[in-house]
Amino acid sequence: MNALGIDIGGSALKGAPVDTKTGRLLAERHRIATPERFTPARMARAVAAIVRHFDWNGPVGIGFPGVIQGGRIRTAANLHPAFVGRDGRALFGRASGCPVALINDAAAAAHAEMKFGAGRGFAGKTLLLTLGTGVGSALAQDGVIIPAELGHLPWKGGRPAEKHVASSVKERKDLSWPKWSRRLDRYLAVLETVFWPELIIIGGGVSAKHAKFFPHLRTRAKLVPAEFFNEAGIVGAALHGAAQR
Ligand code: BGC
Repeated sequence: MNALGIDIGGSALKGAPVDTKTGRLLAERHRIATPERFTPARMARAVAAIVRHFDWNGPVGIGFPGVIQGGRIRTAANLHPAFVGRDGRALFGRASGCPVALINDAAAAAHAEMKFGAGRGFAGKTLLLTLGTGVGSALAQDGVIIPAELGHLPWKGGRPAEKHVASSVKERKDLSWPKWSRRLDRYLAVLETVFWPELIIIGGGVSAKHAKFFPHLRTRAKLVPAEFFNEAGIVGAALHGAAQR
């Protein structure tokens, strides 16, 4: 079955129809930039614009950068605070006129990577991190994906770890690759102490530049870049959208 996958991020939302049997995008993705914080109503209009762009009227899966419980948005650390408490499934469903299923963005990426990408065929404990505006995380084992909020681990001074290690921090503070890698290395060491993953998959836009920072990371687990790089969120959201029917 095909489904439209939409990945809502801190600086843009992107979508494409996906063949959920192969994980392949069926058309070039459509991107709408969100240079300032979109309100829920404006974001819903942007989601509807992506649906219209593809003339879509089937199932839609949306990856959202926050805690999702039963279709309801519980947190939105890097988006407009008015999202918190909203029924995202109803909000985006009404705006798009399509059946919508919502999932945490990193959990969506984990679905895509475990099924079609860097974790394909691997049943052991896997930690997937997405490095972007924030830090997304999910654990996977034997086909079960557990969304996590490891970007909100209290770090220096009790601030969320993502404020120190996200790739947006590297850009904003103009940190060199070695300097940023040291931060990431310390963070990964803590995560390895508590989770003991056998495989760590790094996604997000910066994963395309893994050759610049992987050599500085000393993980015990096997470390690999996401195969879908930044598109895992779209593919995983579509998988989730198709599964909800
Ligand atoms: C959110 C997570 C999300 C991550 C990446 C964090 O700030 O709390 O839910 O997965 O950003 O977008």
